[in-house]
Amino acid sequence: MGERLQVFLVFLLYFLLVIGFLFGKRGVMVVSTNDREQWGSRLGFIMAAAGSAVGLGNIWRFPYVVGMNGGGAFVLIYLAIVFIIGASVMLAEMAIGRGAGLNAVGSFKKLGGGAWPLVGWMGVIAGFIILSFYGVVAGWTIAYMLKSFTGLMEVASQGKAGDAFGAFVSNPTQVILYQALFMFGTIWIVFKGIGEGIEKYCKVMMPGLFLLLLVLILRAVTLDGAMKGIEFYLKPDFSKVTGGTVLSALGQGFFSLSLGMGCMITYGSYLNKDEALPSAAFTVTFLDTLVAFLAGFAIFPAVFAFNMEPAAGPGLTFITLPSVFSKMPMGAVFSFVFFLLLFFAAITSSVSLLEVCVAYFKDELGWDRAKASWVLGLVIFLLGVPSALSLGGHFPKIAGKDFLDAMDFVASNLLLPLGGILISLFAGWFWLDGCKKEISNQGRLPFVFEGIWVWICRLVAPVVIAIVFVKGLKW
Ligand code: PHE
Repeated sequence: MGERLQVFLVFLLYFLLVIGFLFGKRGVMVVSTNDREQWGSRLGFIMAAAGSAVGLGNIWRFPYVVGMNGGGAFVLIYLAIVFIIGASVMLAEMAIGRGAGLNAVGSFKKLGGGAWPLVGWMGVIAGFIILSFYGVVAGWTIAYMLKSFTGLMEVASQGKAGDAFGAFVSNPTQVILYQALFMFGTIWIVFKGIGEGIEKYCKVMMPGLFLLLLVLILRAVTLDGAMKGIEFYLKPDFSKVTGGTVLSALGQGFFSLSLGMGCMITYGSYLNKDEALPSAAFTVTFLDTLVAFLAGFAIFPAVFAFNMEPAAGPGLTFITLPSVFSKMPMGAVFSFVFFLLLFFAAITSSVSLLEVCVAYFKDELGWDRAKASWVLGLVIFLLGVPSALSLGGHFPKIAGKDFLDAMDFVASNLLLPLGGILISLFAGWFWLDGCKKEISNQGRLPFVFEGIWVWICRLVAPVVIAIVFVKGLKW
């Protein structure tokens, strides 16, 4: 590591620590366990849960996966999988969390005992790991918002967006600075609490995200040649549908719905006992899928209108799209709008990841919210530094993978599916009666799909996820 970088890191650390202590001392109201924080309204809960679900995964991954996997044919399979398996597991998670009124580990301790808390533990660890690299990529969105107005358009119009991106991510000082900024925002929102923090911000950012998305769609579909993009995106090609398609639909759906790591358990634990869970799980699944689906209409028509090649993941987002924007009138504005949208999507997801960890330290170890938010946020930030360094080759590879990709692999391919299988089995076999009572609000609410839901949790979800899990073990 360069000397300047070291000095910079030390300062950053010091800065974060001081802020942590300042706010930690003053603290927020300490709430005793039987006086648990709660969402202010059903809408607030839904916005927060949808905020967790709608994230980078929806915008940079879903559209591309659709385009490559048979277009409309894939969308149909995705819809079936997500609404049958995804929504069922989400419902199970919400019921477990609200039933126990505790964090992921505490919920399994209270309702299951034995080795079950390990499932919660895996979730907390996944929270640490995912947020560590998620914060790095999310930081790029802040950088690119600013870059939209400071030269990115000029560089991109000369066809050099790729070089610019490469130079940016291999500059550790820059990447870590933006990562720190993003983590600061995440910690701040979580530190403010459930109602005054997560709920309040999600209630503004989620509708904001939707509005920005509509602006971009309108721009994209009114360009000459937009139809070619829509064709690439949605033209059904059943020849591309294989067993593997179903697997990628499930893998994508699981990550996208924030399942398998206790996010929905934790969020559910702050929900009022009178709210209906099935419609909440359905609504969140619907909103997540809607945003993912719509993102394709903002992206592909524009990409094809300017005769560009659709790329995957970061390439599409940080290289192809800036080039596309640079060819439009007022491109800088649309570029800014796009990265702001991505920022909203990312931060409403990252607060849910941090909250899983914070809730655990709060409930189980008695930390107050302020201490948990700042200390854990700082630890996660530090854990993310190797990921930040890995992109420019400043950090050793792990068995041939960049550190960032290795982290992603461990969380998305190992911890989430394993968590999903165990959560379904827990709800379908072990804690079934309790789960049914929680879902029907102690019998006060008819749950029409109960019979189907039980067998999805008992059999369908564990088996299908297990297949995906085994396939995903390839490093
Ligand atoms: N669902 C988020 C996305 O699509 C990522 C995420 C995964 C958030 C797991 C929380 C838990 O980007």
